[in-house]
Amino acid sequence: MTAAADNRSPAISVRGAVKRFGPITAVDGLDLEVPRGICLGLLGPNGAGKSTTMRLLTGQAIANDGEIRVFEHELPGDSKQARARMGVVPQLDNLDVDVTVEDNLAVYSRLYRVGDVRAAVDRSLAIARLADRRREAVDKLSGGMRRRLLLARGLVHEPELLLLDEPTVGLDPQIRTELWSLIDGLRTRGKTILMSTHYIEEAERLADEVAVMHHGKVIARATPAALIAEHAGRETAELYGPPDRLAEVRALAESEGLTVRPAGPAIAIVGSENARNGAIPEDAIRRAATLEDVFVILTGEEAE
Ligand SMILES: Nc1ncnc2c1ncn2[C@@H]1O[C@H](COP(=O)(O)OP(=O)(O)O)[C@@H](O)[C@H]1O
Ligand SMILES: [Mg+2]
Repeated sequence: MTAAADNRSPAISVRGAVKRFGPITAVDGLDLEVPRGICLGLLGPNGAGKSTTMRLLTGQAIANDGEIRVFEHELPGDSKQARARMGVVPQLDNLDVDVTVEDNLAVYSRLYRVGDVRAAVDRSLAIARLADRRREAVDKLSGGMRRRLLLARGLVHEPELLLLDEPTVGLDPQIRTELWSLIDGLRTRGKTILMSTHYIEEAERLADEVAVMHHGKVIARATPAALIAEHAGRETAELYGPPDRLAEVRALAESEGLTVRPAGPAIAIVGSENARNGAIPEDAIRRAATLEDVFVILTGEEAE
């Protein structure tokens, strides 16, 4: 069963947040509300402002403007109280490589003033399926294991809210699938999750709702199915062929008011169910519209 949102104060509430770095506005009037009990996917291309948003929520960065609340705690003033209730998995691996797996977890457990450190370490090792590696040095772990350890570290104090910043970036597809099942397990256990990603499939697999982020703001927000229905329609037709032919088909489809985008070596004609006879060639492959179609239409960036 998917977790249902409840109606207490939201886990996260951001209004009009702005964060500038000199001439760069990384977060530019961001509004974002995350009700308790859902996994919200913050989907956007590199540079959209996802990591900066995460850092505003942890109090590691201070907004120039706007209101940020985590549960009932107002940031940045109450960031300590907010941090006590959230688990953070940063995009960049900052594990202590000089000590063992379990020592990394023990240090964090003490930092968060967990009562029973031993139990906390055991519990998070089990969740991350790293119990048999507990005495291993961190620099002996594979990339996937390090990511699982980062996740375990974020869980030592049993937080209600998890912030996952690109949890599988740079991992092989198979390892990525392993992490997805871990994250999905946390979601079904009722944790509230804010997960940033630039991988469409990751958002599609894990997120109850997706907020598409671009140039520092959320430009669309809904369930994946609703985003697809609203922005891409029902069906997309893909056509492969020599560039001249693709250009010709593209021009015809666009003259019919359809949206056409490059899709690797092919073109994708979005909303092809609305095309008049002849606008879509017979040899085009018709498929159901996807979140990838939405992402490319809204951000103008090629999907990864
Ligand atoms: N500490 C910083 N100093 C200067 N520029 C930054 C800093 N952090 C982020 N930026 C810039 O802000 C923008 C958004 O970055 P980021 O939040 O990391 O995006 P994302 O996580 O979506 O890739 C980018 O242009 C990035 O270069
Ligand atoms: Mg980032």
